Amino acid sequence: MPEQTDSLLEEALQALEAASDAAALQVWRTGYLGRKGQVSELMKLISTLPKEERPAFGQAANELKRTLETAFEARQEALAREELAGELAAEGLDVTLPGRPIGPGHLHITTQTLRQNYAIFAEMGFQVYESPDVETDELNFGLLNMPPHHPARDMWDTFWISDEIVLRTHTSPGQIRVMRERHPEPIRVILPGKCYRYEQITARSEHQFYQVEGLAVGHGITMTDLIGTLTEFARRLYGPERRIRIRGSYFPFTEPSIEADMDCILCLGEGCRVCKQSGWLEIGGAGMVHPVVLQNGGYDPEEWSGFAFGLGVERPAMLKYEIDDIRLFYGNDLRFLRQF
Ligand code: PHE
Repeated sequence: MPEQTDSLLEEALQALEAASDAAALQVWRTGYLGRKGQVSELMKLISTLPKEERPAFGQAANELKRTLETAFEARQEALAREELAGELAAEGLDVTLPGRPIGPGHLHITTQTLRQNYAIFAEMGFQVYESPDVETDELNFGLLNMPPHHPARDMWDTFWISDEIVLRTHTSPGQIRVMRERHPEPIRVILPGKCYRYEQITARSEHQFYQVEGLAVGHGITMTDLIGTLTEFARRLYGPERRIRIRGSYFPFTEPSIEADMDCILCLGEGCRVCKQSGWLEIGGAGMVHPVVLQNGGYDPEEWSGFAFGLGVERPAMLKYEIDDIRLFYGNDLRFLRQF
Protein backbone atom coordinates (compact mmCIF):
# COMPACT_ATOMS: atom_id res chain seq x y z
CA MET A 1 0.00 0.00 0.00
CA PRO A 2 2.42 2.66 -1.17
CA GLU A 3 -0.26 5.37 -0.89
CA GLN A 4 -0.36 4.85 2.84
CA THR A 5 3.39 5.13 3.26
CA ASP A 6 3.56 8.05 0.84
CA SER A 7 0.96 10.07 2.67
CA LEU A 8 2.51 9.30 6.05
CA LEU A 9 5.91 10.34 4.66
CA GLU A 10 4.56 13.64 3.41
CA GLU A 11 2.74 14.39 6.64
CA ALA A 12 5.75 13.45 8.79
CA LEU A 13 8.18 15.61 6.79
CA GLN A 14 5.86 18.60 7.06
CA ALA A 15 5.56 18.13 10.81
CA LEU A 16 9.34 17.79 11.06
CA GLU A 17 9.84 21.07 9.21
CA ALA A 18 7.42 22.71 11.66
CA ALA A 19 9.31 21.44 14.73
CA SER A 20 11.42 24.45 15.63
CA ASP A 21 13.11 23.51 18.88
CA ALA A 22 14.60 20.53 20.67
CA ALA A 23 11.41 19.79 22.63
CA ALA A 24 9.23 19.80 19.49
CA LEU A 25 11.77 17.52 17.80
CA GLN A 26 11.49 14.96 20.59
CA VAL A 27 7.69 15.04 20.42
CA TRP A 28 7.95 14.43 16.68
CA ARG A 29 10.36 11.56 17.14
CA THR A 30 8.14 9.79 19.67
CA GLY A 31 5.07 10.41 17.52
CA TYR A 32 6.51 8.96 14.32
CA LEU A 33 9.51 6.79 15.15
CA GLY A 34 8.78 5.79 18.76
CA ARG A 35 7.83 2.33 19.88
CA LYS A 36 4.16 3.26 19.64
CA GLY A 37 4.65 5.83 16.93
CA GLN A 38 2.90 5.98 13.59
CA VAL A 39 5.55 4.04 11.69
CA SER A 40 5.38 1.17 14.17
CA GLU A 41 1.60 1.21 13.93
CA LEU A 42 1.86 1.06 10.15
CA MET A 43 4.18 -1.93 10.36
CA LYS A 44 1.75 -3.79 12.53
CA LEU A 45 -0.69 -3.71 9.60
CA ILE A 46 1.53 -6.20 7.75
CA SER A 47 -0.09 -9.14 9.49
CA THR A 48 -3.53 -8.05 8.26
CA LEU A 49 -2.47 -8.11 4.62
CA PRO A 50 -2.76 -10.91 2.09
CA LYS A 51 0.53 -12.80 1.87
CA GLU A 52 1.51 -11.59 -1.62
CA GLU A 53 1.26 -7.94 -0.64
CA ARG A 54 3.33 -8.25 2.50
CA PRO A 55 6.91 -8.05 1.03
CA ALA A 56 6.21 -4.89 -0.95
CA PHE A 57 4.50 -3.27 2.03
CA GLY A 58 7.26 -4.27 4.38
CA GLN A 59 9.89 -2.87 2.06
CA ALA A 60 8.00 0.42 1.66
CA ALA A 61 7.53 0.74 5.44
CA ASN A 62 11.22 0.08 6.13
CA GLU A 63 12.22 2.64 3.55
CA LEU A 64 9.85 5.12 5.12
CA LYS A 65 11.41 4.50 8.50
CA ARG A 66 14.95 5.02 7.21
CA THR A 67 13.97 8.16 5.33
CA LEU A 68 12.35 9.65 8.41
CA GLU A 69 15.33 8.75 10.59
CA THR A 70 17.72 10.47 8.19
CA ALA A 71 15.43 13.49 7.94
CA PHE A 72 15.25 13.67 11.73
CA GLU A 73 19.02 13.73 12.11
CA ALA A 74 19.39 16.39 9.43
CA ARG A 75 16.73 18.55 11.07
CA GLN A 76 18.36 18.13 14.46
CA GLU A 77 21.71 19.29 13.12
CA ALA A 78 20.15 22.22 11.29
CA LEU A 79 18.41 23.34 14.47
CA ALA A 80 21.65 23.10 16.48
CA ARG A 81 23.42 25.25 13.89
CA GLU A 82 20.64 27.82 13.95
CA GLU A 83 20.74 27.93 17.72
CA LEU A 84 24.53 28.49 17.75
CA ALA A 85 24.25 31.22 15.14
CA GLY A 86 21.55 32.84 17.25
CA GLU A 87 23.75 32.73 20.35
CA LEU A 88 26.72 34.21 18.53
CA ALA A 89 24.55 36.94 17.06
CA ALA A 90 23.17 37.73 20.51
CA GLU A 91 26.76 38.08 21.80
CA GLY A 92 27.48 40.48 18.97
CA LEU A 93 30.40 38.27 17.93
CA ASP A 94 31.22 37.87 14.28
CA VAL A 95 33.47 34.83 14.16
CA THR A 96 34.21 35.42 10.51
CA LEU A 97 36.08 38.66 11.20
CA PRO A 98 39.88 38.38 11.03
CA GLY A 99 41.56 38.48 14.46
CA ARG A 100 43.16 41.63 15.84
CA PRO A 101 46.87 41.49 15.18
CA ILE A 102 49.13 41.63 18.25
CA GLY A 103 51.87 44.08 17.40
CA PRO A 104 55.46 43.12 18.11
CA GLY A 105 56.81 44.69 21.31
CA HIS A 106 60.15 46.38 21.71
CA LEU A 107 62.72 46.91 24.42
CA HIS A 108 62.00 49.29 27.29
CA ILE A 109 64.01 52.48 27.17
CA THR A 110 65.89 51.41 30.32
CA THR A 111 66.84 48.10 28.73
CA GLN A 112 68.01 49.88 25.61
CA THR A 113 70.14 52.25 27.67
CA LEU A 114 71.59 49.40 29.73
CA ARG A 115 72.49 47.49 26.59
CA GLN A 116 74.28 50.53 25.14
CA ASN A 117 76.32 50.61 28.36
CA TYR A 118 77.08 46.88 28.16
CA ALA A 119 78.25 47.19 24.55
CA ILE A 120 80.63 50.05 25.35
CA PHE A 121 82.10 48.39 28.43
CA ALA A 122 82.37 45.07 26.62
CA GLU A 123 84.60 46.77 24.06
CA MET A 124 86.77 47.89 26.96
CA GLY A 125 87.01 44.35 28.31
CA PHE A 126 84.38 44.47 31.07
CA GLN A 127 82.20 41.43 31.68
CA VAL A 128 78.62 41.76 32.98
CA TYR A 129 78.18 40.29 36.47
CA GLU A 130 74.78 40.24 38.12
CA SER A 131 74.21 40.19 41.85
CA PRO A 132 71.00 40.00 43.91
CA ASP A 133 68.55 42.86 44.55
CA VAL A 134 67.90 41.60 48.09
CA GLU A 135 71.11 41.86 50.07
CA THR A 136 72.43 41.37 53.53
CA ASP A 137 73.19 44.40 55.64
CA GLU A 138 76.73 43.12 55.75
CA LEU A 139 77.26 43.19 51.99
CA ASN A 140 75.31 46.38 51.35
CA PHE A 141 77.12 48.22 54.16
CA GLY A 142 79.38 46.30 56.52
CA LEU A 143 81.91 44.80 54.11
CA LEU A 144 81.93 48.09 52.21
CA ASN A 145 83.61 49.62 55.22
CA MET A 146 80.42 50.81 56.93
CA PRO A 147 80.01 48.94 60.21
CA PRO A 148 76.68 49.29 62.05
CA HIS A 149 76.05 52.88 63.17
CA HIS A 150 78.61 54.27 60.73
CA PRO A 151 77.31 57.77 59.93
CA ALA A 152 77.92 57.26 56.20
CA ARG A 153 74.96 54.88 56.17
CA ASP A 154 72.82 57.99 56.24
CA MET A 155 73.75 58.56 52.59
CA TRP A 156 71.33 55.77 51.67
CA ASP A 157 67.67 55.72 52.72
CA THR A 158 67.13 52.03 53.12
CA PHE A 159 64.23 49.60 52.79
CA TRP A 160 64.79 47.09 55.58
CA ILE A 161 63.33 43.60 55.10
CA SER A 162 64.52 42.51 58.54
CA ASP A 163 67.35 43.56 60.85
CA GLU A 164 69.88 41.92 58.56
CA ILE A 165 68.25 42.01 55.12
CA VAL A 166 67.82 45.06 52.89
CA LEU A 167 66.85 45.94 49.35
CA ARG A 168 70.24 46.97 48.04
CA THR A 169 70.65 50.73 48.04
CA HIS A 170 73.40 50.59 45.42
CA THR A 171 75.11 47.99 43.22
CA SER A 172 78.35 48.23 45.25
CA PRO A 173 77.72 45.05 47.33
CA GLY A 174 78.28 43.21 44.04
CA GLN A 175 81.93 44.32 44.28
CA ILE A 176 82.42 42.07 47.32
CA ARG A 177 80.60 39.19 45.66
CA VAL A 178 82.76 39.29 42.51
CA MET A 179 85.99 39.66 44.45
CA ARG A 180 85.17 36.72 46.71
CA GLU A 181 84.31 34.61 43.69
CA ARG A 182 87.24 35.60 41.48
CA HIS A 183 90.21 36.11 43.81
CA PRO A 184 93.09 35.86 43.19
CA GLU A 185 92.36 36.63 39.53
CA PRO A 186 92.35 40.18 38.14
CA ILE A 187 88.83 41.56 37.67
CA ARG A 188 87.18 43.78 35.11
CA VAL A 189 83.38 43.71 35.42
CA ILE A 190 80.31 45.88 35.34
CA LEU A 191 77.46 45.13 37.73
CA PRO A 192 74.19 46.47 36.38
CA GLY A 193 70.97 46.24 38.36
CA LYS A 194 68.12 47.84 40.17
CA CYS A 195 68.61 49.65 43.43
CA TYR A 196 66.07 50.77 45.99
CA ARG A 197 65.92 53.74 48.31
CA TYR A 198 63.26 54.78 50.74
CA GLU A 199 62.63 58.12 49.11
CA GLN A 200 59.78 60.40 48.35
CA ILE A 201 58.80 59.78 44.72
CA THR A 202 58.96 62.95 42.65
CA ALA A 203 59.57 63.92 39.04
CA ARG A 204 63.30 63.71 39.82
CA SER A 205 63.61 60.75 42.17
CA GLU A 206 62.14 57.26 42.29
CA HIS A 207 62.38 54.66 45.02
CA GLN A 208 63.72 52.22 42.41
CA PHE A 209 66.29 52.96 39.72
CA TYR A 210 69.19 51.33 37.91
CA GLN A 211 72.89 51.66 38.42
CA VAL A 212 75.79 50.29 36.47
CA GLU A 213 78.64 49.58 38.86
CA GLY A 214 82.14 49.12 37.49
CA LEU A 215 85.03 47.31 39.16
CA ALA A 216 88.58 46.72 38.03
CA VAL A 217 91.10 45.00 40.28
CA GLY A 218 94.65 44.29 39.20
CA HIS A 219 98.29 45.14 39.66
CA GLY A 220 99.23 48.78 39.33
CA ILE A 221 95.76 50.12 38.59
CA THR A 222 95.64 53.87 39.25
CA MET A 223 93.25 56.82 39.26
CA THR A 224 94.40 57.57 35.71
CA ASP A 225 92.87 54.27 34.57
CA LEU A 226 89.61 55.22 36.25
CA ILE A 227 89.47 58.66 34.64
CA GLY A 228 90.46 57.22 31.27
CA THR A 229 87.73 54.59 31.49
CA LEU A 230 85.03 57.12 32.40
CA THR A 231 86.18 59.53 29.68
CA GLU A 232 86.17 56.79 27.08
CA PHE A 233 82.71 55.68 28.19
CA ALA A 234 81.29 59.22 27.96
CA ARG A 235 82.83 59.76 24.53
CA ARG A 236 81.53 56.50 23.11
CA LEU A 237 78.04 57.14 24.44
CA TYR A 238 77.69 60.89 23.92
CA GLY A 239 80.22 61.82 21.25
CA PRO A 240 84.02 62.03 20.86
CA GLU A 241 84.24 65.69 21.93
CA ARG A 242 83.00 64.99 25.51
CA ARG A 243 85.11 66.18 28.44
CA ILE A 244 85.15 64.79 31.98
CA ARG A 245 85.59 66.79 35.17
CA ILE A 246 86.63 65.22 38.47
CA ARG A 247 85.69 66.54 41.89
CA GLY A 248 86.80 65.21 45.27
CA SER A 249 84.08 63.31 47.15
CA TYR A 250 83.58 60.79 49.89
CA PHE A 251 82.48 57.16 49.91
CA PRO A 252 83.50 54.79 52.72
CA PHE A 253 84.44 52.07 50.20
CA THR A 254 86.75 54.14 47.98
CA GLU A 255 89.88 56.11 48.84
CA PRO A 256 90.32 58.60 47.35
CA SER A 257 86.73 59.13 46.21
CA ILE A 258 85.58 61.28 43.34
CA GLU A 259 82.46 62.54 41.61
CA ALA A 260 82.67 62.57 37.81
CA ASP A 261 80.91 65.15 35.64
CA MET A 262 80.66 65.40 31.87
CA ASP A 263 80.26 68.63 29.92
CA CYS A 264 76.56 69.20 29.22
CA ILE A 265 75.40 67.46 26.06
CA LEU A 266 72.65 69.99 25.47
CA CYS A 267 74.50 73.31 25.79
CA LEU A 268 78.00 71.89 25.30
CA GLY A 269 79.20 73.58 28.47
CA GLU A 270 77.61 76.98 27.85
CA GLY A 271 75.13 76.63 30.73
CA CYS A 272 71.43 75.81 30.32
CA ARG A 273 68.32 74.79 32.24
CA VAL A 274 69.28 71.10 32.18
CA CYS A 275 72.74 71.56 33.69
CA LYS A 276 71.43 74.30 35.98
CA GLN A 277 73.70 76.84 34.23
CA SER A 278 76.81 74.98 35.39
CA GLY A 279 77.78 73.51 32.02
CA TRP A 280 78.34 70.10 33.69
CA LEU A 281 76.25 66.99 34.24
CA GLU A 282 76.93 64.50 37.02
CA ILE A 283 77.58 60.99 35.72
CA GLY A 284 78.40 59.12 38.90
CA GLY A 285 80.48 58.48 42.00
CA ALA A 286 83.77 56.62 41.80
CA GLY A 287 87.17 56.11 43.38
CA MET A 288 90.02 53.75 44.11
CA VAL A 289 88.82 50.64 45.94
CA HIS A 290 89.47 51.11 49.66
CA PRO A 291 92.17 48.76 51.05
CA VAL A 292 89.70 47.40 53.62
CA VAL A 293 87.26 46.54 50.83
CA LEU A 294 90.00 44.82 48.80
CA GLN A 295 90.86 42.83 51.88
CA ASN A 296 87.19 41.94 52.49
CA GLY A 297 87.11 40.65 48.92
CA GLY A 298 90.17 38.48 49.49
CA TYR A 299 92.82 40.68 47.83
CA ASP A 300 95.98 41.83 49.58
CA PRO A 301 95.99 45.64 49.24
CA GLU A 302 99.79 45.61 49.32
CA GLU A 303 99.79 43.77 46.02
CA TRP A 304 96.52 44.69 44.42
CA SER A 305 94.72 47.92 43.62
CA GLY A 306 91.53 48.76 41.82
CA PHE A 307 88.96 51.32 40.86
CA ALA A 308 85.18 51.33 41.13
CA PHE A 309 82.42 53.56 39.82
CA GLY A 310 78.64 53.74 40.03
CA LEU A 311 76.79 55.23 37.06
CA GLY A 312 73.14 56.20 36.89
CA VAL A 313 70.98 54.87 34.08
CA GLU A 314 67.64 56.70 34.05
CA ARG A 315 68.95 60.24 34.59
CA PRO A 316 71.35 60.22 31.63
CA ALA A 317 68.54 58.77 29.48
CA MET A 318 66.29 61.59 30.68
CA LEU A 319 68.85 64.13 29.53
CA LYS A 320 69.43 62.46 26.21
CA TYR A 321 65.75 62.12 25.33
CA GLU A 322 64.53 65.21 27.20
CA ILE A 323 62.28 63.21 29.53
CA ASP A 324 61.17 65.48 32.35
CA ASP A 325 59.67 62.97 34.79
CA ILE A 326 61.47 59.86 36.10
CA ARG A 327 58.15 58.27 37.11
CA LEU A 328 57.42 57.66 33.42
CA PHE A 329 60.03 54.87 33.42
CA TYR A 330 57.84 52.78 35.74
CA GLY A 331 54.38 53.98 34.70
CA ASN A 332 53.88 51.37 31.95
CA ASP A 333 52.18 53.95 29.77
CA LEU A 334 52.53 52.72 26.20
CA ARG A 335 52.17 56.25 24.82
CA PHE A 336 55.44 57.04 26.58
CA LEU A 337 57.22 53.74 25.93
CA ARG A 338 56.44 53.65 22.19
CA GLN A 339 58.46 56.79 21.63
CA PHE A 340 61.77 55.03 22.13
N1 PHE B 1 77.59 53.19 45.42
C1 PHE B 1 77.73 54.61 45.28
C2 PHE B 1 76.32 55.24 45.35
O1 PHE B 1 75.37 54.58 45.12
C3 PHE B 1 78.41 55.00 43.99
C4 PHE B 1 79.82 54.51 43.92
C5 PHE B 1 80.12 53.31 43.34
C6 PHE B 1 80.86 55.26 44.45
C7 PHE B 1 81.42 52.84 43.28
C8 PHE B 1 82.16 54.83 44.38
C9 PHE B 1 82.44 53.63 43.82
O2 PHE B 1 76.17 56.40 45.62
